[in-house]
Amino acid sequence: MKILVLGGCGYIGTILTETLLGDGHHVTVVDIMWFGNFLKEHKNLRVIREDVRNVEKIPMQAIDVVIHLANVANDPCSELDSQLSWDVNVLATMRLVERAISNKVKQFIYASSGSVYGVKEESDVTEELSLVPISDYNKTKMISERVLISYRDKILIQCVRPATVCGYSPRMRLDLSVNMLTVQALANRKITVLGGSQVRPNIHIKDMVAVYSYLLKMGDKIEGIYNAGFENISILDIAKKIVTQVPAEIIISESNDPRSYRLCSDKLRAAGFRQKYSVDDAIKELVNEFQAGHLKDEDRWYNIKTMKTLKL
Ligand SMILES: NC(=O)c1ccc[n+]([C@@H]2O[C@H](COP(=O)([O-])OP(=O)(O)OC[C@H]3O[C@@H](n4cnc5c(N)ncnc54)[C@H](O)[C@@H]3O)[C@@H](O)[C@H]2O)c1
Repeated sequence: MKILVLGGCGYIGTILTETLLGDGHHVTVVDIMWFGNFLKEHKNLRVIREDVRNVEKIPMQAIDVVIHLANVANDPCSELDSQLSWDVNVLATMRLVERAISNKVKQFIYASSGSVYGVKEESDVTEELSLVPISDYNKTKMISERVLISYRDKILIQCVRPATVCGYSPRMRLDLSVNMLTVQALANRKITVLGGSQVRPNIHIKDMVAVYSYLLKMGDKIEGIYNAGFENISILDIAKKIVTQVPAEIIISESNDPRSYRLCSDKLRAAGFRQKYSVDDAIKELVNEFQAGHLKDEDRWYNIKTMKTLKL
């Protein structure tokens, strides 16, 4: 297939692009490269540095599927420039799907976020529950989903609501809980847990990529919105998992982030998807990469630190 990955230079996009190429697809990546480009050259890969807001410059001719990951990708970055976040995450998404439709693209897959649910007491947060988005980031994801779903009579739409992703990527993110706490333990022998009792769902980066590959494979057999998260764990329990692999002191301090929810991914499982990896696997891989010298605690792996240095 000919696949356009928007945001293909990101943390998830880098592994996704490598996987799609390995599966024999032809991949075009469009990315503004805020965090660089760690993709290796490949005969079936074309990489274009472009802002998705310049929708008319995004090559969609002869593309079968668009996988859209190119968003301002967390709460603090969305708050840094709220206008930018709405322009990129929502307005550009609407214009991109319209361009996809006019170019006869068959399938549009969107990376939403499990954080659209906000604070939920329910033990099973299914796709049917109401959304209580707290931040700009959560709100842009919710609205983009709704905009995209409104085009479902013209193009196959699949929106994924991922849990927090964990595990190693050459374009690393250390602002994600498992990754951040593991590297704290490795670098400082201390883990600072904010609050600790908040429960968050997690998904291994290889399973995250497998979800997108699965949606490609399933094509129009499934459509709509899917949660994707397989381990609901409190932040404190994540820290406890880490110290079984990396001896470190756990320090608990106050949190100002109330988001707490348990994602239920039974709909994705009922569609036939099976996850293969765990948070423990992610921790193990991070430890190996750190010990091999491939992973360091660097500012560039924190989206907010990089975005503060950019002229946006
Ligand atoms: N990582 C997670 O835990 C997680 C969880 C839920 C949802 N998501 C969503 O998945 C997607 C990918 O996340 P990620 O962790 O790889 O984030 P990331 O920040 O590493 O990747 C996003 C990529 O999009 C690019 N981008 C942003 N705005 C752009 C624009 N205007 N034009 C072109 N490129 C642009 C960035 O340069 C970056 O390479 C995001 O939409 C994110 O919101 C991620």
